[in-house]
Amino acid sequence: MNAANPTSSFTFDSSWSRASGKVILFGEHAVVYGVRALAAGISRGVFARSERATADSVHVGGMLLAPDHALLGAVRCLRAQLGAAPLRLEFHSELPQGAGLGSSAAMAVAAARALSKSHEQELSDRQLFEAAQAWERVFHGNPSGVDVAAAQSNSVIAYSRGSHPEPLTLAKRLHLVVVQAGPPASTKLMVEAVAKNKVRNPAQFDKTLSAIASLVDNASLLLRQGELNAVGQLMDLNHMLLAGWMLSTEDIENACKIARDAGALGAKLTGAGGGGCVIALAENQERQNDIVNALARSGLSAFAATVGEEI
Ligand code: PMV
Repeated sequence: MNAANPTSSFTFDSSWSRASGKVILFGEHAVVYGVRALAAGISRGVFARSERATADSVHVGGMLLAPDHALLGAVRCLRAQLGAAPLRLEFHSELPQGAGLGSSAAMAVAAARALSKSHEQELSDRQLFEAAQAWERVFHGNPSGVDVAAAQSNSVIAYSRGSHPEPLTLAKRLHLVVVQAGPPASTKLMVEAVAKNKVRNPAQFDKTLSAIASLVDNASLLLRQGELNAVGQLMDLNHMLLAGWMLSTEDIENACKIARDAGALGAKLTGAGGGGCVIALAENQERQNDIVNALARSGLSAFAATVGEEI
């Protein structure tokens, strides 16, 4: 994975603002059909800092971007939304791009938080959300907002299409492992592939949808109660249902198996599927490290990600 190594020379101090990367824990794809999904802001994220300037400029990992880079357009949209003056922005990212981990939304939220500091402009969560969404529209057309909501959070959020995400109170911190199982597939193509399942067999499709809906409801309860063994079992079940929509691949199955063999309580694809990332849930930090190491021994790039941590 090409994410920056968080143990590298970067030091997070009060000059930086942070936003979280995201994973979908339960309910991806079903959410397109109105089912509630559970997503989480993870302990890896993006850091930004800014200062007022006469014109916008952006540095990513120490490199100055060309003025016609798309990120500069996103900065202008973010500023327009907030009525803010130009700025010099710097980013440090711990997230791989284009892997379904919400890297762009995390940049947007970190940038809005940095601007709020440098321009001494207090922002409510809602204003921050809207500004980051303006940034996201530059890259993703009409995004649902889940990536931005997760980027604002360090915990789990429940979201359904068209309504504002709600935070869920965790009884226990979640020790996840995120692994890039294979090259990511296009979310649009995967969503279209699922729609074909619906056309082919609508009755079966509706059964799967209601199974996922009740699984999400149960998972919310279990997360509130800290019943992690049962949460892991529900992850396996959600994965099986997604595999039934042909969203899994040999690489994904392989990554899930390695994680489960290394002691994961459950493992599933996360996000669009067809490639991309798998998440596994560990009982504790020690087991989380075992899983990361087992995946690494198989040549896979994995990292530990915690949810519900004070950052
Ligand atoms: O792979 P991601 O993180 O872009 O997630 C896609 C989630 C879907 O449910 C598959 C699509 C959507 O719009 O909700």
